Parts: sequence; C-alpha cells; structure tokens
Amino acid sequence: MRSIQAFSAVVLLLTLFTIFFSSFHLSTIYSHKDQPLSPQVHDSDVTTQSSKQVSLTKPPSVDVLNVSVSEDLRKTIPRNGAYWNRLLYSALSILDQGNLPLRGDWSNCRETNPERLQTNVHDLASYPVLLQDFLQGLNCSSSPVLINQSHKCSSSQEEGHDQTFLLFAIKTTPGNFERRQAVRDTWGKEGVYQGGLRVRTVFLLGTPPPDAIDLSTILSLEAKHFGDVLQWDFQESFFNLTLKGNMFLQWTLRNCPHASFVFSGDDDVFVNTPALLRYLKSLPASQASHLFVGHVIKTASPHRDPNNKYYIPLSFYDGPYPAYAGGGGFVISGSLLQSLYSVSHFIPFFPIDDVYTGMCAKALGVSPEIHPGFMTFDVKEQDRGNLCVHKDLIMIHQRSPVEMKKLWKGINSPLLTC
Ligand SMILES: *[C@@H]1O[C@H](CO)[C@@H](O)[C@H](O)[C@H]1NC(C)=O
Ligand SMILES: *[C@@H]1O[C@H](CO)[C@@H](O)[C@H](O)[C@H]1NC(C)=O
Ligand SMILES: *[C@@H]1O[C@H](CO)[C@@H](O)[C@H](O)[C@H]1NC(C)=O
Repeated sequence: MRSIQAFSAVVLLLTLFTIFFSSFHLSTIYSHKDQPLSPQVHDSDVTTQSSKQVSLTKPPSVDVLNVSVSEDLRKTIPRNGAYWNRLLYSALSILDQGNLPLRGDWSNCRETNPERLQTNVHDLASYPVLLQDFLQGLNCSSSPVLINQSHKCSSSQEEGHDQTFLLFAIKTTPGNFERRQAVRDTWGKEGVYQGGLRVRTVFLLGTPPPDAIDLSTILSLEAKHFGDVLQWDFQESFFNLTLKGNMFLQWTLRNCPHASFVFSGDDDVFVNTPALLRYLKSLPASQASHLFVGHVIKTASPHRDPNNKYYIPLSFYDGPYPAYAGGGGFVISGSLLQSLYSVSHFIPFFPIDDVYTGMCAKALGVSPEIHPGFMTFDVKEQDRGNLCVHKDLIMIHQRSPVEMKKLWKGINSPLLTC
C-alpha cells in the first residue's frame, strides 16, 4: 500500500513538473508584454495564505429568493413514510407557511447519535456504510471554502463586468492533475471564441480522504498558476457530489453571476466546444433563458439492488425519479441558477447529484430537454476514433487525456473533410 502511494506521488510530481515546465514557456511569452495579465492569471485567494484580507470579513451569504414548488413535483413524489419523502414534505410545509428552513451550521450539522437516526430509519443498519454516512451529514449544506477564485469573472478592463458566455464547471478530484490539464489544453481552454463568446473554466474539488497523501501544497500551486481551481472543505465521495454542486451554485451566484450558460460535467468527458457554442448562440431568447439540456433520462426509478452503485433503499426514498439530465455533462442557463439555488433549500439533498438537479428543476417547473448531441453513454464501438462522427456531437463520455488531445486536434483541423 505504502509503495503504491509513494509511486503515485512520484508520478504526480513528474506530471506536475511537465505541466509547469510546458506552461512556463507560455508565461514567459506573456510577461514580455506590457499589458496587465489576463484575468485568468489572478492569484487565487487561497485562504491559508492570503489571510490578511479575507480573515476579518465574513463572506456575504447568497440570497434565497421567494420560490414556489410545483404541483408536479408533489404529484411525482409520494407523501409517505420513506425518510427522504418525509423530510421533503416537512420542508414544503415550512415553505407553505412562508418560512425558510434553517440550514445547519457546518460545525454541528452532523447527526452524531446513530440511535436518533435509527428511530427515523428503522433499517439504517442494513444501509451501505457510505449511505449511512450520507444520512448523518444530510443537513450539512454549506461547506467552508478552501480555494476561492473571486476574480474569475471580472475582467481587468471593466471592473465588475463579466461577459462570460459559457462557464465550464468540471467536477474533479484532487489527484486528477492530468485530466484537468488535458481539459485546459483542449475543450476547456479559456478565451474568446468565434463570435466574441467568452469561455471560462473552473474545476470543482473537495478534499482527499484523510489517509491519502497530502496534495494541498501542489494543489495551491496549481490554483495560483492556473486560477481555475475551486476547493471546499468536505471529503470527496460520490455521495458528496450533491453538496459540491450546491457549493458551486453558491460560488457562481457570488462570483460569476452574469454567466449566460453553465456546463456542468465530469473531468473525463469530451466536449466539442465550438459545436456547443454554435448551438447555444443559435437559441431563441425564450429558450436560452430557461435552458436545461443534455442526455435526458426520462423514466428512471431507484435501483433497489444493494450491490448497485446507485442503490437506494425503499425506506429512504419511495417513488420514481423525475426526468433528469445525465451528470456526465449538461448545460443550464445562468438565469436559472438563482431560483435553482433558492429552491434547493426546500429539497433535501439526495445522494445522486444529477437526480437531485432533476428534482430541483422539476420543483421550478423546468423540464430537461433532450439533445442528441449529448452522449453521456458512448458512441458505437467502431465510431470511437471517427472524427466525422465526433464533429457533429456536443459531448461524449468518457475519454482519456490522450484521446481528448487527439480528438480536439482532429475536429479542429482545417484538413478534416467529412
Ligand atoms: C470569495 O471571494 C468573493 C470576492 O472577493 C467574496 O465575495 C466571497 O465572500 C469569497 N468567498 C469566501 C467563502 O471566502
Ligand atoms: C436535519 O434537520 C431536520 C430539520 O431540522 C431534522 O428533522 C432532521 O432530524 C435532521 N437530520 C439529521 C440527520 O440531522
Ligand atoms: C462528505 O464530506 C463530509 C465532510 O468532509 C464527510 O464527513 C463525509 O464523510 C462525506 N460524505 C461521504 C458520503 O463520504
């Protein structure tokens, strides 16, 4: 075990060395110019290091606006004895009285007494350990920020104006340096694309498990160098992705509130950024302001097999899932984020993050739209290397860093004839 960790550490350092070395070339070119550095290269506010400015001011909280929850959601999700269903309806009764449920303070939001939880969920002991852990932290909905890119969306020329057309928000984990670099080098490259459309990218991270090697120093170097790393103080796990998504909403409303569209996705997908921009640009205003588009799963229900990664016990959640867009990659209008965030205060966290987004959207009366260019599964085996097939797609699950670079170069080549 130790030798594997040591080996990964060496591989990691080598990768980073290569990354910094190759981008050092770029930074020296930039530094010869007289102009101020582009906004991407702002120092990130790493809390531990720039303590002077940040320690005294408490971050302003993001407003929760008045929302109503659609009848549709109430019809889809039965009001019965399952634990999550009960939590939902008790939150909705608070809403119907015109109040706001209290969000637990991070320092004491966990239910540490298993017996108390057991009185509500009689078969809790039979739940997978990770799900039990999720339940204990269900009320923990606002994690402290470790790395905050507060200048991400303000351009240096026009203070306070951000003209972000598309914000890529990529879910990743601390050790995935190589994947992040492949995204930066290819489809997640920041800049102004054809038609003057500005693209910005952030990576969303939690913390590694306590027994993993400490990556915080390398990570804060990476954050400073690229200005695109956001990190919160919760442990990475599949069941914490809902929390991650919610923290990202909060960050965006505070720091990038005028982004026209947000792409939320995994660090191992491939996005055809020019095709995505063309599609978004072509939308009529009415559609552009209420967009929730991706690979839509219309009629799903919880997996009831305890060995499935997505297992949800009947005593936890009862009912079908609302239609949702696969979490590998979907796009949502920036103008929906505020109501999405507000309504999330009344929808208890659900362990599967894309289902949760589907629930919140349904609560707002927004239905996800199907777009055939979003492939959260994959294209046919024989088409995986076919550039012409990829040229027409918007998003494809799952590509390695090497494949990503090959595809990106290929679809952007002027020599490509299809
Ligand atoms: C992140 O930075 C922005 C801009 O300085 C600030 O408004 C916000 O409070 C910061 N967030 C945290 C949690 O420090
Ligand atoms: C979360 O908060 C709700 C409402 O305050 C409460 O009923 C529930 O027991 C809490 N759950 C946990 C796991 O702390
Ligand atoms: C989510 O993060 C919290 C805070 O770090 C941690 O205590 C919890 O174990 C994590 N949840 C899961 C399901 O791993």
